[in-house]
Amino acid sequence: MKSLLTIEELTGEEIRELLELGHRLKAERGEHAHLPLKGQTWALIFSKSSTRTRVSFETGIYELGGRPMFLSTRDMQLGRGEPIKDTARVLGRMVHGAVIRTFSQQDVVDFAQFSGIPTINALTDQEHPCQILADLMTLEEIYGVGAWKDMKIAFMGDVDNNVGRSWMWAAKRLGFTLALGGPASALPSDATLRVLNCPTITTTTDPYDAVKDATVINTDTWISMGQEEQKGSKEQAFFPYQVNAELLSHAAPRHSVFHCLPAYRGYEITDDVLEAHSDAIFTQAENRLHAQKAVLQTLVES
Ligand code: CP
Ligand code: NVA
Repeated sequence: MKSLLTIEELTGEEIRELLELGHRLKAERGEHAHLPLKGQTWALIFSKSSTRTRVSFETGIYELGGRPMFLSTRDMQLGRGEPIKDTARVLGRMVHGAVIRTFSQQDVVDFAQFSGIPTINALTDQEHPCQILADLMTLEEIYGVGAWKDMKIAFMGDVDNNVGRSWMWAAKRLGFTLALGGPASALPSDATLRVLNCPTITTTTDPYDAVKDATVINTDTWISMGQEEQKGSKEQAFFPYQVNAELLSHAAPRHSVFHCLPAYRGYEITDDVLEAHSDAIFTQAENRLHAQKAVLQTLVES
């Protein structure tokens, strides 16, 4: 693995290896003598807000012996129009790796190509691969290694967003059942489903069909970063897909609710559901640190 740009371009085996290393790094936290990033500086280039991703990468890079350098595009020449390929060629001569949160997936692809250094997608409009690695780690902690094989996973609401798309590619690569429940306007297009070509992914506009017998029920904000102007027009169509106690009464008995956070209570999830499932949800957040340390170590050692 040279870079982590999407879940799409990972194999099932690569995902399983990252998860295994993530579990190991979590168990050994504080006792780990191996410092694979010793002497390295990693740039964190962010064009969008972040709490979990920034803190987990800064902490993870430091714990692996490296130095994180946070760069907001508000302060960079990139924010004033310097091309990504020029920024990449400059940084590629100075730092050892880059973590990028931005809008266009092509910018992350171009950065990786022109910089020549390991590059990690820390969320684009297309995918959020680091989130899904942490979510799969959390699922394995609760239900056992590889437990997704025998369960139905649901994703409710704005299913064709960055987080939903990374879940779709995980379903394809690992072969699990993923039911996507949302308004017709938010479901993946036929063209997207053809590209995925994954018989274990189903789509429905019936929220009850989607959660019926599901063991993990995922959701995310209805309004992703950069879509703020769509708030009024989008929201009404999404309320039937809110993850609330009544909807969950149709899920499998020992179910968990996942949310990548930040959550908007009263919209995609109710306060009582979030609080009842807070252990899993905040474990997802914590596992960002461990899963990303696994990614960083794998990138520098391969
Ligand atoms: N889940 C997630 O990526 O959170 P942040 O936006 O806070 O980084
Ligand atoms: N889909 C959300 C995820 C936030 C972590 C967004 O892009 O804003």
